Amino acid sequence: MAGAELVVLVRAVRLALEREAGRGRGDLWTVAAAEPARPRKEASMTRPELLSPPHDTLEIVAKEVRLSETRTHAVPGVGTGRVGIVFVGEAPGAEEDRRGEPFVGRAGELLNKMLLAMDEKQLIPGVSVSREAVYIANVLKCRPPENRNPLPHEVEACSPYLMRQLALLKPRVIFCLGKFAAELLVGAKGTIGGMRGTVFRYGDAKLLVTYHPAACLRNPAYKRPVWEDMQFLAREYLSD
Ligand code: URA
Repeated sequence: MAGAELVVLVRAVRLALEREAGRGRGDLWTVAAAEPARPRKEASMTRPELLSPPHDTLEIVAKEVRLSETRTHAVPGVGTGRVGIVFVGEAPGAEEDRRGEPFVGRAGELLNKMLLAMDEKQLIPGVSVSREAVYIANVLKCRPPENRNPLPHEVEACSPYLMRQLALLKPRVIFCLGKFAAELLVGAKGTIGGMRGTVFRYGDAKLLVTYHPAACLRNPAYKRPVWEDMQFLAREYLSD
């Protein structure tokens, strides 16, 4: 406010006070001061964002910020999910980071072959499991440097995105590819060997577990159990 405006305002207030005093209401300042104080109200509001997650530290926040800086593209997911099947992997690799799409590197080529085989063999008659018809996502949405394993605080920071995707997609079956997706969504530690073959639940969805395609590339002996798990997926998809 300019100095001149302030002078005008002070003058107007003084005049108003004098006018009120002339009407027998006394000095308003004195009247106001004599009034009992209004009871103090407290507004309480739950603000979960104000609570830091357990074990959070400033260093962890800094690391997370840097992690999203080291990526080229975030990789949210691909597909429509219209057939009610969601595949969940671990984290984008170099090729996924370059293209912003999950499973487009070597592991992705293998996943595509498996989807194609499911279609060719008509494992789910009348239902296409193309990349477009299903939804494919990862636990982490950014590539960890040097393709290292996701760290617990990264999973904690990124997994709410996956949870929101699943809540929106409302899949019939979720197929976890590898340990990180499986442990996160099953909600318990375990090995893939120990978890595969069981129908877990994630809300209304059936949740199944298999080896990661990258594990199949490293050890081709995993290809057969993965194919069996895809047949299991088809059976569970078709049953109630
Ligand atoms: N491995 C994954 O888990 N996800 C990808 O998107 C690619 C490789």
